[in-house]
Amino acid sequence: MRHDRPSRWWRSALLAAAALGLQAPGAAQNAARPAASADPLAPTARWSAYTRGRAALPPMGWNSWNAFNTDIDEAKIIGSAERMVASGLAAKGYRYLNLDDGWWLKRRLGDGRILVRPDRFPSAATAPGGNSFRPLTDRLHAMGLKAGIYSDLGRNICSQAYATDRVNLPQGSVQEREVGLYGHIDRDIDLFFRDWGFDYIKIDGCGIRAFGADAERVRSGEFRALAPTVDLKEVMRTDIAAVRTMFDQVNQALTRSNPDGDWILSLCLWGSANVRAWGKDLGNVSRTSDDLTPSWGRMLANFDSAAKRALYAHPGSWNDPDMLYIGAGDFDAAHLEQARSHFALWAIINAPLLMGTDLRSAPPALMELFGNERIIALNQDPAGHQAVIAFDSDDLQIFVKTLASGEKGVAVFNRGAEAIDVNFAAGLLRFADDAPVTLTDLWSGRATSFTRETKLHVEPRQTLILRAKGTRTLADGLYLSEQPGNVNPAVDGVTVPQHDPTIYRSLGWAGTRGAGDRPIYAGWGGAQADSTPYGQLLQIAGRPLGGGIGILANSRLEVRNQGYRRFTATVGVDDSARDKARAVTFQVYADGRLIGSSPALRHGQTGHAFDLSVAGARIVELVARTTSGSTDTLPVTWGDAALRR
Ligand code: GLA
Repeated sequence: MRHDRPSRWWRSALLAAAALGLQAPGAAQNAARPAASADPLAPTARWSAYTRGRAALPPMGWNSWNAFNTDIDEAKIIGSAERMVASGLAAKGYRYLNLDDGWWLKRRLGDGRILVRPDRFPSAATAPGGNSFRPLTDRLHAMGLKAGIYSDLGRNICSQAYATDRVNLPQGSVQEREVGLYGHIDRDIDLFFRDWGFDYIKIDGCGIRAFGADAERVRSGEFRALAPTVDLKEVMRTDIAAVRTMFDQVNQALTRSNPDGDWILSLCLWGSANVRAWGKDLGNVSRTSDDLTPSWGRMLANFDSAAKRALYAHPGSWNDPDMLYIGAGDFDAAHLEQARSHFALWAIINAPLLMGTDLRSAPPALMELFGNERIIALNQDPAGHQAVIAFDSDDLQIFVKTLASGEKGVAVFNRGAEAIDVNFAAGLLRFADDAPVTLTDLWSGRATSFTRETKLHVEPRQTLILRAKGTRTLADGLYLSEQPGNVNPAVDGVTVPQHDPTIYRSLGWAGTRGAGDRPIYAGWGGAQADSTPYGQLLQIAGRPLGGGIGILANSRLEVRNQGYRRFTATVGVDDSARDKARAVTFQVYADGRLIGSSPALRHGQTGHAFDLSVAGARIVELVARTTSGSTDTLPVTWGDAALRR
């Protein structure tokens, strides 16, 4: 049997996907690549997740939005930068000083150049040739910092759609107020990066969402209509391919304007457009949900939107549950335990650590919180593995992050209102039962040790954040689910996006108006570490697997092999599959060469064991392919999949 040609099933699935405006994840990056004729499951021998720009580690710094909204000016920006440096936070890794909405005056008609508000940024007028952000970025660079700017994919921007106070909105005629990237991608990116010297750009999507012909602000003549390509609430009304194409163009412009590759591209689509599946292919950080507010419920919602997407984050492409809201509301200095939870949770899932409080007046307790070097090190661990969930319930969750040293970062998170006594076992860490485990509390630095099991006490809304050292049960290797930063679901088998029902739905955004908070973020059915795509424990033919990768059939995983010699796994159709008829063939490739293939396996059939040499191979690809049948989803399991010495 040949495996390098698309099956008939795949061809029809691709045509169906094309009709829906979808593209196989990873397929849109290069417009020259033929999307509909190529077999997306064919091995490529390459790592396709985003590695451009400079985000080998999650970015750290400060952004103006949560503290000031559009009411920004040079004094606030420089004041925050100065405190970031003087307090020692910059030396601990907080480097980016990012402007958000509120900086534009207008787009100059004629040459199309964007002008900075001179009343708010007086240094702009001191540049040779007039209006420019270069004096500001020079100043930030001279302080040892990096500078970030903000724009929108559409003609218009978020504040023009949503700001009620109308502070600092762009001025002038309808066209002068069109300060977004639409139709100006090359010119604006070149201005921001080559002329003005920015190092980071956050690109929002309000302009391609909120300016339809029937919007009040368009009907009144204030703005021109732009047919929306994004519907935040309904992914099936979103033109995903069009959105991806725009970010593709942004990438081409960034490459041209930054010959040294020193940029960070932050996608801000708030989890819409199925971006939780493909943000990893087109940007360095990608928002997985709507805006955070300083409320506990909203924090749960935003955390959930990223926390179970470990396989969709890698060095170079991180999940972004939004900027830190520490310093306000439920996370101010009077609610330190909650603020600490927020920080610890963001840290362990490799979220960007972008502070959002007015640093000039931040109280010492919060400055100390931001500056905890043990927690910063957890977030900035060079291996870049997002934490994976080891224990799950609505009240208590335990997240475990494998560190470069082989130690584990651990978050024991009490989401609820009752204190919980936790039986914490070495097995949750994949550490041996009969050898001591040392736990270091990252807030206090205090260490304790236990063997087999210990009791931990977690107060309501508290997160115990720990570092664990022990003896690995798998002594000669690493399970793939322990190294999500090296596993890329290049094709995750999801052909029609589905709303994820597991994300906490909070009143924090709209209160009790309307019909409540419904599931809106697509991504359900995506690849999972140590779980099926729909959250069950992995099991083949009645045999529970200790862990592994759960994914839908007709998928291709790319695995970066960092010097291991063997690949082992037990594979099969997962017991949770509804379709008991269809068969799946599992194939393993080393640098594009087929090295192992299973028999065709159906639901209930005993798993097939692989033990294959991958010595010298840099990319191992895991393909699970149905030979025929319906388009119903079919969960398959790469049980206990591991790379071994
Ligand atoms: C959107 C983004 C926010 C912020 C505002 C600015 O809502 O999600 O992070 O940038 O726009 O208006």
